[in-house]
Amino acid sequence: MTARTPLISGNWKMNLSSAEVDSLTRALVEAANDQRDIEIAVAPPAIWLERVISLAKDSALQVWGQNAAEEASGAFTGETSFPMLLDAGASGSLLGHSERRHVFGESNESVAKRAKLGVEIGARIILCVGEQLEDRKSGATMQVVDAQLSPALPHIPADKLVVAYEPVWAIGTGETATPEQAQETHAAIRETLRKTYGEKADKIQILYGGSVKPTNAAELLAQNDIDGVLVGGAALKFDSFSGIIAAAKS
Ligand code: PGA
Repeated sequence: MTARTPLISGNWKMNLSSAEVDSLTRALVEAANDQRDIEIAVAPPAIWLERVISLAKDSALQVWGQNAAEEASGAFTGETSFPMLLDAGASGSLLGHSERRHVFGESNESVAKRAKLGVEIGARIILCVGEQLEDRKSGATMQVVDAQLSPALPHIPADKLVVAYEPVWAIGTGETATPEQAQETHAAIRETLRKTYGEKADKIQILYGGSVKPTNAAELLAQNDIDGVLVGGAALKFDSFSGIIAAAKS
């Protein structure tokens, strides 16, 4: 188990009704308050952010945005900006999630620009990285991940950064990296972080994401450089998400 505080975070993506959000958030607030040695976080859809933040007020539950725009304000229909996220009470935002990169075409440079803007106004960043199946097969995993990390890292101080390693081929597919595959990549990511942050790299949480479930969370979290998880599907129901929280305690 890691020396860093485990961070168990849920990414709700574009899911859940207001009633579902309310009941799930209430349960998460209780879980977060009960387990102060583990950090628990959720990234709700933008429309539910204020709702979740008001239910989580004065609790240990962290609330994050799922994405934030390159610009602070302006004519960008459909976007949400970092100043808005922080104004609403969010801790910061995920950036560079694989769906943002591969469905919406966000580049490494665009992700870095978002990170710079967020950090300038005090946001924390969960920077998501990960290779596609053909990259893994051709042995290019770290080349791809380093190219995703390197434009963004110079803009983010160590104490504002969480990295989420999510192999694209494992997201929403039921296919998980083996604990050994994940650990190997996490250790390589920490080496990359060391080049920018020196010893502070040892304090940065590196999360694993991609089909994390109550049944595979414990063996992933048992790896030295896996400091938490970013969970999609299994974060939508308290039963499964609490099973993952329980795995972080074992
Ligand atoms: P998944 O999603 O747990 O449904 O694979 C993970 C993520 O996209 O963060």
